[in-house]
Amino acid sequence: MRDYNTLVIVGAQWGDEGKGKIIDWIAQKAEAVVRFNGGNNAGHTVVVNGKTFKFRLLPSGVISENVINIIANGVVINLLALLEEIKEIESLEVKIKKLYISNQASLILPYHILLDKFIEEKRGDKKLGTTGRGIGPAYSDKVSRESIFVGDLLDKNIFKEKLEDIYRLKEKTLTSSFTLPPLEEVYNSQYKALEEILKRNVEIVNTPLLINNLILKRTKVLFEGANGTLLDINFGTYPYVTSSHTISGGVCIGAGISPDKINKVIGIVKAYTSRVGEGPFPSEIHGELAEFIREKGQEYGTVTRRPRRVGWLDLVALRYSHMINGFSMIALTKLDVFSGLEEIKVVKGYRFKGKIIEEFPVISHQISQCEPIYESLSGWKEDLSSIKNFSELPMNAQKYIEFIEKELNLKISMIGTGNKREDLIVIKDPWE
Ligand code: IMP
Repeated sequence: MRDYNTLVIVGAQWGDEGKGKIIDWIAQKAEAVVRFNGGNNAGHTVVVNGKTFKFRLLPSGVISENVINIIANGVVINLLALLEEIKEIESLEVKIKKLYISNQASLILPYHILLDKFIEEKRGDKKLGTTGRGIGPAYSDKVSRESIFVGDLLDKNIFKEKLEDIYRLKEKTLTSSFTLPPLEEVYNSQYKALEEILKRNVEIVNTPLLINNLILKRTKVLFEGANGTLLDINFGTYPYVTSSHTISGGVCIGAGISPDKINKVIGIVKAYTSRVGEGPFPSEIHGELAEFIREKGQEYGTVTRRPRRVGWLDLVALRYSHMINGFSMIALTKLDVFSGLEEIKVVKGYRFKGKIIEEFPVISHQISQCEPIYESLSGWKEDLSSIKNFSELPMNAQKYIEFIEKELNLKISMIGTGNKREDLIVIKDPWE
């Protein structure tokens, strides 16, 4: 590995690990922040000076001064949603300082959204629980070479021609019960949104070139992952996954850099587990305890407001996540949610077909046959929000952290103790 100044942040679980807060802290010292996967299915919430920022497509660097923000090729972009998000940020008195969008990022067009909802409905009780934002159909179109890129919009004739070609094809290939929205409407709304966006400090460029040049100049570049490892299209709990590359390797694919340009990978691990949508979840908790965690951790989708399913920390799943991502260190979030619990459980292994296993089976129907084997730890009562040092944490909270470090053979370098920007214990600055 060569000595560049790059950091990659990815969610280690099923998304919603509280990445926003950690990314926000790290982004304050970054010179460039790059989104490399997903679309507006992701949601990061950051609370700064009493203002709540909800990011879906914009890189978290937009609220930091002097940061170059980049949306790379691997992202699927709904221009209307992006414009809405920009306006939301502006209503909080933040101006976009510099945003570059890849000319090769695929557009999410209105028919992708309609198709996403249409397919989910047809799946009936086998639904995946998608966010309904058109993510799957947009990535499917990319793979089947029917995508329209953001850069295509820069030439009105090319955009029109591509849209007409795709409409001709889709009218023949889509099921007869699915109706495409009027072409003219799609064409006009995309143009209007792009024109509005380009009135800001936004440029559509060749982002792999831009990113590689920044890296070679030793710029501090933060790659911000969306969703989570177990939602990865290749390595997640398929088919209950999203359609992009959510893992550290996704940076190479989504941003166009070679693997040797990644210096460190930071895995964001929530003190417990959550998941939205369907799919296996061995450590899931139900009833009053689940309610307690859901309410205290505000486990409701940033994008859809759906209540999230919650469960104990799962070391079997995390060992797999570490194997796939190669974490250099971990940031543990939302430890404060446990304050007030007498007992905290952690999954150490699974019982599968009568045998004890420590490896994550990955295949969804096998995971749902696994029974978790728990280790029980003692909880604590104290509020953690004002704590700034590891040694000030209640003894049982320290033991919980040390237990995770030992089990995963990884250092925890940051600990989230509340939802505000300052509620954070930094043991080791990842940039150092
Ligand atoms: P899609 O990404 O909308 O296609 O949804 C596919 C699956 O991924 C669903 O179970 C979603 O709930 C889940 N998902 C997508 N993005 C996120 C995220 O940012 N956090 C948590 N779950 C997500």
